[in-house]
Amino acid sequence: MYTIDQPQGKIFTSLAPMRGLTTRHFMDILYDYGDPDEYISEFLRVHQTATISEDIVDLIENRKSMAILSIQLLGKEPEHFLRIAKILQNYKIKSINLNCGCPMPKIGKKGVGGSLLTDLNTLDAIISTMSDNTNFPISVKTRIGYKSPQEFDIILSHLARHRLSAVYVHARTVKGMYGEPVDFECISIAKAALNCPVIANGDIKTAQEAVNVIRRTNADGVMIGRAAISNPWIFRQIAELTDKTKIFIPTGEDYFNLIEKLQNFPTKLALTDLQKTSAIKKYAIPIADFVDPLGNFPHYIRRTTTLRDLTDMCKNFFIKKCRNRHMM
Ligand SMILES: Cc1cc2nc3c(=O)[nH]c(=O)nc-3n(C[C@H](O)[C@H](O)[C@H](O)COP(=O)(O)O)c2cc1C
Repeated sequence: MYTIDQPQGKIFTSLAPMRGLTTRHFMDILYDYGDPDEYISEFLRVHQTATISEDIVDLIENRKSMAILSIQLLGKEPEHFLRIAKILQNYKIKSINLNCGCPMPKIGKKGVGGSLLTDLNTLDAIISTMSDNTNFPISVKTRIGYKSPQEFDIILSHLARHRLSAVYVHARTVKGMYGEPVDFECISIAKAALNCPVIANGDIKTAQEAVNVIRRTNADGVMIGRAAISNPWIFRQIAELTDKTKIFIPTGEDYFNLIEKLQNFPTKLALTDLQKTSAIKKYAIPIADFVDPLGNFPHYIRRTTTLRDLTDMCKNFFIKKCRNRHMM
């Protein structure tokens, strides 16, 4: 059993799984810039004929980092979870995380992800089946309700029945998607109700906010998603803030190097220039929004259709205009 056990004063950090973004390549970039304490894979869909995807195998076997790796599963039939967990026993991973938060309607229609919060007996059955029949520590990533935070007490009462290695609380409802304000009070409530570590998630954008959320909620750690895309140095900054050492602030040149690293992502398929440009834009747009919230740079990045243009725009902004400027 692994435990989330941080030295005094340190904050446990976890990279939030984000399908299509938190790839092995991105995790390798984070390794270079400052690892979180834990990585959770994007979800692996569990159903009757599901297998471990090539991407997950690649992540487990070839990632650079030695930090904890958990594999996230999304599904609803306990027997299918068990079959996949048994296969995962052949691989070097620390634990299994259950997705009880995905708000996408096409996922919800199948009764999986966030919809599991409307069927807590099934959630109980999945957790019990996995705990009773595998040696994996099991953790849950949940929202605070399906439609309303008032559902959270009953959700917590179900989670409290199990021996979980951690509960990650994205403190919005499923219906609230990503727009609803984060309800940090619910994280304090989870911390008081559960016997396991509780990790706070939702809209934590800076190292200082991570410290503030821990103080405010008493959570055992923070999980960060979108802010790690626009600022992949955030985990290092959290460690530096709590160590009271000088905090690294990236310059324009550091961001240009990041864009270059993102462009070197390995692909199995031969992608067209447009497909490669779209893949990089998934990172470049949030980066541009972050470093130039009021300027034109995000607008130009959104409109670009070729890798050449994207690189030129980034060179113009990050190298010509901001090479030595600190970007936050
Ligand atoms: C593009 C995208 C993909 C996501 N994919 C997953 C996923 O596969 N599994 C999951 O549990 N959450 C997923 N999430 C939710 C994040 O893990 C996280 O809970 C959410 O973004 C809130 O944290 P943040 O404000 O730090 O980004 C995804 C979010 C985004 C934006």
